[in-house]
Amino acid sequence: MTTASENPARPSAGLRLCGFDELADPGTRGFRFRAERWLFAGFVVRAGDLLAGYVDSCPHAQWPLAALDDRYLTRDARHILCSGHGALFRLDGTCVAGPCYGQRLTDWPVALKDGAVFTA
Ligand code: FES
Repeated sequence: MTTASENPARPSAGLRLCGFDELADPGTRGFRFRAERWLFAGFVVRAGDLLAGYVDSCPHAQWPLAALDDRYLTRDARHILCSGHGALFRLDGTCVAGPCYGQRLTDWPVALKDGAVFTA
C-alpha cells in the first residue's frame, strides 16, 4: 500500500496553494493534485492563529472527509467532520468522536509566507 508521503502526486515543499486572505476565518479549502494514475488530496484549515494542513483521508476507512468541496468544518466550526461515518476531529487533527476515536488525521505540512499558504 502506498502511503500519503510516497504518493507521487503529492506536491513538493514550496508550492503556493492560495493567498492567506482567500481562506475564511474559520475556514477550510481542499486541494487535489494528479500525476498519471495517482491522486493526492489535502486540505488546509484556518482558525484564528491556527493554520494546518491534513491529507484528505479519514483514518477510519481512508475516505475523503468532505462531501462538498472545501466544506470540512462542522456548522459551529469547532471540528472537522468526516462525512463518511460522522467522525469529528479537533482542528489539531485528533479524532474526538466516531469510529476512529483517538486517531489522527495525517499531517500535510503547510506554512504561511508573504501572505500566502505554501506546502512545507
Ligand atoms: S470514513 Fe470517516 S468516519 Fe468512516
